[in-house]
Amino acid sequence: MTYAAITGWGACMPPAVLTNADLSTFLDTNDEWIRTRTGMRERRVSHVSGMELSVVASARALACAGLDAGDLELIVYGSCSNEEAVPNSASGVQAALGATRAAAMDVNTACTSFLYGLTTATSMIRTGIVKNAVVIGVELISKYMDWSDRGVAVLFGDGAAAVVLQASDTESGVIGSVLGCDALARKTLRVRGIGVGYSGRDITIGDTKWDFDGPAIFKRAVHAMSEASLRVMKEQGITAEQVDLVVPHQANLRIIESVAKYAGLPMDKVMLTVERYGNMSAATVPVALVEALETGRVKPGATILMPGFGGGLTWAATLVKWGDRVTPLGTSDRSLPPCTQSALEMINAIRAAQDPHGRSAAGLSTLVAGAFDG
Ligand code: ACO
Repeated sequence: MTYAAITGWGACMPPAVLTNADLSTFLDTNDEWIRTRTGMRERRVSHVSGMELSVVASARALACAGLDAGDLELIVYGSCSNEEAVPNSASGVQAALGATRAAAMDVNTACTSFLYGLTTATSMIRTGIVKNAVVIGVELISKYMDWSDRGVAVLFGDGAAAVVLQASDTESGVIGSVLGCDALARKTLRVRGIGVGYSGRDITIGDTKWDFDGPAIFKRAVHAMSEASLRVMKEQGITAEQVDLVVPHQANLRIIESVAKYAGLPMDKVMLTVERYGNMSAATVPVALVEALETGRVKPGATILMPGFGGGLTWAATLVKWGDRVTPLGTSDRSLPPCTQSALEMINAIRAAQDPHGRSAAGLSTLVAGAFDG
């Protein structure tokens, strides 16, 4: 039997921090509301493209695994905020890494894109189609956000992380996964304008508007993540007591607490990043997994449960059995270029470009070109 062990991991968090206080300088909101309703204090805003974040995260994951980019056979780019549809983003990462032998595919199931991608890559390794893969979860929500809408603008952040999978004879990696989609609720979360003419020439980022029924998504998210968690544990014969660590999608602290309660998982087993990073959509699970490894919360042989949900409304729960190694084999010297603006300055530049009474095409082109080249 072939397994797909997780042998490398790496995150790339943009350095600029947007606090709740920053948000309240231009939105009718406040730190107390955001903290008590969501558990969030701050989030990151990227000064580079999602592909650039992904290249750094992937290079770190490859170094951690001790795998040369030239030997990589598959790149899965999990995201719903791709800069372009054609060519896909995975091909951009392939080029930047010099991973010339790798197949390159994008997966978009919104916030569950990493979990869907992880299951896809695992299946391809377990069936012998490829021997190894990089799976990325990345999101650059800041450029798609409607910064005049306090109902969504306070919730999201940017970030990226990646894992390396390698074929192994030892039982490890994804041991069970359930995937689904609550499509009757697909209209509760819709971003109009995303992925269209994103290059800043015709339709612009200023057209982005969010249809977002927060309370409806909340209820369906709790139901879907809890049921999926219980189902994947039952299918694999694992009890809640046998789960060592839960790495959930981080859309809202209250959602996570409800899922943990419903599925019988104590909160001290749950890895949380929502307070510092907000909801990074597809990036939340892999970033939290990398931080769990870096802070010693993943022990050799650990059983890890990763439930998620996202637009669609897609849902997933993945069970991972960790291998023996919880430390990196190597490190990468790839890093981001310096960030010369504060997060608030970057958001105010986007807001200026999103002026509903007459967007400046020139302003947008400059902004987008600067933000997304690469
Ligand atoms: N600041 C201050 N007040 C606000 C804000 C804000 N940012 N946003 C909304 N309010 C107000 C509302 O207008 C409302 O006021 P009213 O009572 O006078 O009408 C009040 O706060 C309560 O609003 P609710 O929407 O009922 O608040 P709720 O407790 O449901 O929290 C939230 C809203 C945080 C959006 C919650 O419903 C939630 O987390 N939902 C799920 C979000 C989610 O999972 N998103 C990810 C989806 S998948 C993906 O990421 C692609």
